[in-house]
Amino acid sequence: MNRSTLVRSRSEAVLSLIGNTPLVPLHFEAERLTIYAKCEIFNPSGSIKDRFAKCVLVDAEQRGLLKPDSIIVECSSGNTGIALSLIGATLGYQVRILMSASASEERRKIIRQLGAELILFESGGKYQTGIDMSREMAAKDPRVFLPRQFENSINAEDHEHFTGAEILRQMLGPIDAFVTGFGTGGTLAGCGKAIKRRWPDAKIIAMEPAEQALLAGECPCCHLIEGVADGFIPPLLRDAPLDGEEKIKSAEAMAMTRRLHREFGLLVGTSSGANIVAALRLAQKLGPRATVVTLICDRAERYFSTPLFDAPK
Ligand SMILES: Cc1ncc(COP(=O)(O)O)c(C=O)c1O
Repeated sequence: MNRSTLVRSRSEAVLSLIGNTPLVPLHFEAERLTIYAKCEIFNPSGSIKDRFAKCVLVDAEQRGLLKPDSIIVECSSGNTGIALSLIGATLGYQVRILMSASASEERRKIIRQLGAELILFESGGKYQTGIDMSREMAAKDPRVFLPRQFENSINAEDHEHFTGAEILRQMLGPIDAFVTGFGTGGTLAGCGKAIKRRWPDAKIIAMEPAEQALLAGECPCCHLIEGVADGFIPPLLRDAPLDGEEKIKSAEAMAMTRRLHREFGLLVGTSSGANIVAALRLAQKLGPRATVVTLICDRAERYFSTPLFDAPK
């Protein structure tokens, strides 16, 4: 086997594990409600971001944008960085991740363990600092390839054609509401479009941290729901078919995340708890027979050093 055939068959194994994640009903006894949760934790790097990493890199390869000496450079708060590091490594590319110095130690360790280069920047929480740095690197070095998760339309298109289409196949009847948080907005815009096209009456709702409800016109301030709401309304969200937003407090998100750990055996991150709180709230408004779908976005292992694991005994 020559090297490129070897790399191809090696990467195909991991690429085949991405997507087609299970969608399970979660029965909440106290609330007497059922929420349908698409479990993105089953992707190989443990988060929904494997989908973007796969589609952007496979598309770039097909269009001849990636060369053997290419360097994949992206600014990420964690999950995209981990996904690009994992898939980039199996495809045989160098990966460089720019991450805020405030990112958790376990995220840094996973990225380095996957062989990627990690550059930490002081930003005072501002994402734009890392995005500007990645653009400067691309301007200076022709080997740099930028996936541009925040602007790349392939992000939302992939969720429309795959995540959204999978939800429609997995839910046998009509969907009354779909709710999830947003980072780039790709998931909400893509799944929202797919669901709205099939079920025009379905409500497409954004989960927002209450401490930073930008869509609700409020000012940014700190929240503890990592992976979502980076302090600005992302361009990909502009043409999302949104019907409203649910504001969830960090404390509510953490309490529900711990409930998912202990009652359901689902070891997930804080945004998954926030999505479930938002979904339960919608189901309460729409009535006990309503079908409300949400996403479980990432695994708990990348939150060990965060307040999520300072749980009351
Ligand atoms: C941890 C995490 N990552 C990613 C996403 C979705 O991100 P995006 O808007 O970039 O598609 C979510 C959505 O809730 C999330 O909770």
